[in-house]
Amino acid sequence: MSIEKRQILDMNAFDRHLQGGSVAEQVKRRLSNLGSTSVLFYQEPIEMVSASGAWMTAQDGSRFLDFYNNVLSVGHCHPTVVEAISRQTARLTINTRYLNRVVDDYLEALKARLPNDLSNLALTCSGSEANDLAMRIACKVTGKRGFIVTENAYHGNTQAVTEISPSALKTQALPEHVVTVPAPGRSNYPDGNLAEGFAQAIEQAACLLEKRGYGLAAFICDSVFSSDGVFAHPTGLLTQAVECVHRHGGLYIADEVQPGFARTGTGFWGFEHHQAAPDLITMGKPMGNGYPIAGLAARPDYFDRFSEDVGYFNTFGGNPVAAAAGHAVLDVIEHEGLQQNARDSGRYLAQKLEALSESCNCISEVRSLGLFIGVEVSKNRSIEEPDPQRASAIIAGLRYQKVLIGAAGKFGNVLKIRPPLCTSQAEADFFINALSTVLSES
Ligand SMILES: Cc1ncc(COP(=O)(O)O)c(C=O)c1O
Repeated sequence: MSIEKRQILDMNAFDRHLQGGSVAEQVKRRLSNLGSTSVLFYQEPIEMVSASGAWMTAQDGSRFLDFYNNVLSVGHCHPTVVEAISRQTARLTINTRYLNRVVDDYLEALKARLPNDLSNLALTCSGSEANDLAMRIACKVTGKRGFIVTENAYHGNTQAVTEISPSALKTQALPEHVVTVPAPGRSNYPDGNLAEGFAQAIEQAACLLEKRGYGLAAFICDSVFSSDGVFAHPTGLLTQAVECVHRHGGLYIADEVQPGFARTGTGFWGFEHHQAAPDLITMGKPMGNGYPIAGLAARPDYFDRFSEDVGYFNTFGGNPVAAAAGHAVLDVIEHEGLQQNARDSGRYLAQKLEALSESCNCISEVRSLGLFIGVEVSKNRSIEEPDPQRASAIIAGLRYQKVLIGAAGKFGNVLKIRPPLCTSQAEADFFINALSTVLSES
C-alpha cells in the first residue's frame, strides 16, 4: 500500500468544522479573521494564555509541557530576555540607519559565535527573509540559478523560498531550477555509507541542473534536516556532499533556523557536526526567544558583490529592541550552561527513548542530536513501513497527558521532539512517563 506524502502545514492540523463549546467558537472566530490561511495545532486546538520555563498554561488553567516549540528556546518568558526587551523598548526603538551601540554590541557578540571568515551580518525579521537573501547572494556570486534541496525541506514562505520548500507545496510541481535529493536517512540510502550515498545524490542533482542550463548556485539544507524527519548522523555526514557542491561551483548554505543557538549540544550550530564549512549561514527562530529577529552571515566580499546591484535595508531588522533580545539570549545560553544541558538532557532523553522502543513494536528508530529528537513510528519496527496514523494518535494522546510535540517527515510519521534548552531531568521524566502511558494505550 502506498503512503500519501504530507504537506508540512497539514501535520497535526485542526478540524475546521469543530462544533460545540468555547474552543469551537474561538476556531470560528480565527477562521473568520485569517480565512483559509489559518493554521492551528490539534484537531481541537488549545487556547494558551501564559507560559513560564518549559510550561504553557491554557485558558482552562491546565498546564502543558512544551516539548515542541524551539522559538522560546531558553524557556518561555525568560526574565533576562523579558527585562532586556522591556528596558530597550522604553528607551529607544529605531531602524539601523542611525548608529546605536546596543546593535553593534550584539553584532559583535554574535560574530564571536560564528566562523571567523563569515564576518558580515544582515539582520532580518524572519528566517524566510534570511533565506531569500541567501538565495539572492548565491545567484549573484556564482552567476548560476539552480538550487539543490532535500525532498521534504522547508526553508520559508517568500515566493523564491517557497520554490525551494517542497514540503510547503500542495499541488504545484517544483520549478525546473530546483532539484531535490532524498534526505540522508537509512531508508533512503539502504546500501550502506550515508555520507557517500548523499554526496552521489548531490552530484547527480548538480549535473541535472547543469544539463537544464541553470548551473548550481547553492545547496541549502537545514543542518538537522528537521522537516525531513531529523537526520544528523554520522558525524561528518556532509563533508563529501559539500566538496561536491564546491566542485560544481555552488555555495553551501547552512540553514540554522531550527538547529542553531546551542540546541544540538555538541556545537552552537548544527553544521559544526557535519565537518563542512558553510559559505552562508542563515538563522532565526530561537535567536530572540520569541522576539522576531533572524539573520544571515556571509563573507564581506559576498556582501560587496551583492551590493553592486542593490542595497539591502530591512525596516525592523536589527532594531535595538531585537538586538537587546538577541544579546540577552546569548548571555542566558552562556550563563546558564544551556549548550551543556542540551547535550546532557538530549543524551538522557535519547537513552530513555531507546529503552522505551525496546518494549513497543511501533518505533523503528530514535535519531537525535542534543535536544533535537526524531522518533520514527513504523509498523512492526520496520523502517520500511511508516505509520503516520499511529504517529498522529501518539501526538494526540500526549496532548491529553499534557505534553506538546509535533510531526515531521515525508509521511508525517516521525515524532518531532524539541524540548527547551533549560529542560530539567524531572521534565524529561514527565515526558517519558507520558509517552510510555500513551504507547501502552494506543
Ligand atoms: C529550517 C527552516 N528554515 C527557515 C524557516 C523560515 O523561518 P520563518 O518562519 O521565521 O520565516 C523555517 C520555519 O519553520 C525553518 O524550519
